[in-house]
Amino acid sequence: MIFVTGGAGFIGANFVLDWLAQSDEPVLTYDKLTYAGNLNNLASLRNDARHIFVQGDINDGELFAALLSKHQPRAILHFAAESHVDRSIHGPAAFIATNINGTFSLLEATRAYWQTLDASQQAAFRFLHVSTDEVYGTLGAEDPPFSESTAYAPNSPYSASKAASDHLVRAYHHTYGLPVLTTNCSNNYGPYHFPEKLIPLIIANARAGKDLPVYGDGLQVRDWLYVSDHCAAIRRVLEAGRPGASYNVGGWNEKTNLSVVHTLCDLLNELQPKSGGSYRDQIRHISDRPGHDRRYAIDARKIERELGWKPAETFETGLRKTVAWYLANDAWVQQVQSGEYQQWVDLQYKNKEQA
Ligand code: NAD
Ligand code: DAU
Repeated sequence: MIFVTGGAGFIGANFVLDWLAQSDEPVLTYDKLTYAGNLNNLASLRNDARHIFVQGDINDGELFAALLSKHQPRAILHFAAESHVDRSIHGPAAFIATNINGTFSLLEATRAYWQTLDASQQAAFRFLHVSTDEVYGTLGAEDPPFSESTAYAPNSPYSASKAASDHLVRAYHHTYGLPVLTTNCSNNYGPYHFPEKLIPLIIANARAGKDLPVYGDGLQVRDWLYVSDHCAAIRRVLEAGRPGASYNVGGWNEKTNLSVVHTLCDLLNELQPKSGGSYRDQIRHISDRPGHDRRYAIDARKIERELGWKPAETFETGLRKTVAWYLANDAWVQQVQSGEYQQWVDLQYKNKEQA
């Protein structure tokens, strides 16, 4: 079997669902269920004997070690993290605790377990660390995209904590021989994306008749990848990646934030027109994110050359699927917007200056 940490979050849940749609190899999902974790994402697996869910913190090395010893997985896929840049600006402590200390605890428990395996099991074992392109910092308009040899230069508490975790993972390979793999992916979008992030936030606010907040001039650039393409890349790296290597994963889809928001408004105008006017009328430029990275872009040639992976979706097909999913899953949106969500929205957006 495989273990998936953070499997109740956005990408982790998509990964678990895709995995079990394509394979009968069992999965143990290990997740703390923070505000971002949601068992409803895995509701379709409730009575599926191939799936086990355990609520736990990656800092709980004892619990994780007991699960390793009981289930003897052949691989661990590590998605669990605090993942939102804006939250890391308001409160970095949770990012250090989970992304750095938590990854360290996980590596320690994994190393101890791995050392109990026989030589052939040790050789076949994999620890796959899911990371981000944000570790590379920011690009100017004319710079070449990030490659695997671009120097790390993280700019936010979130990206600094992810960079630290990448370094720990690398060190466990170099020092102990643990067969690790790291993926550094660009911005994902798709089903089950928590509406604190740009794309699901814009869809939810547009439908609710609220402002569509664009930070600063909105000309910051992100490189968007549909989540199932990211999941396919991770499966391929797990299957054939070279232990110790890292792989950049991206969609070759550089877009300014403003153009993403415009496209979303136009899709909503088409699929769920509002009476009188366009959703574009709700756009508001507000004050910028402190330290905002201007541009991300991924050079994904290594994973294509070595492992034959490339994205299946274009931005147009992926975004249309995403908007359709949100329109069909109102109950999910209502559920994740209850509870803590409103406090976050007030903290981040209330009384924000117009840019
Ligand atoms: P998410 O915030 O939607 O989900 C994170 C999950 O981790 C949640 O289910 C949460 O409950 C769980 N978690 C958090 N702290 C935990 C802890 N201490 N112990 C156990 N579980 C814990 O995040 P996501 O967007 O799905 O991102 C998943 C991973 O992919 C992260 O490592 C992130 O850095 C990376 N990544 C994300 C993107 C993106 O665009 N979202 C792009 C590249 C890489
Ligand atoms: O690049 C990969 C990263 O992408 C992941 O590592 C992170 O986990 C993930 O959250 C994402 O980070 P970003 O900061 O790029 O994503 P976010 O959706 O928060 O913002 C996308 C862009 O949109 C960014 O330039 C900020 C801007 N933005 C965001 C929000 C929430 C706005 O203009 N308005 C908003 O309200």
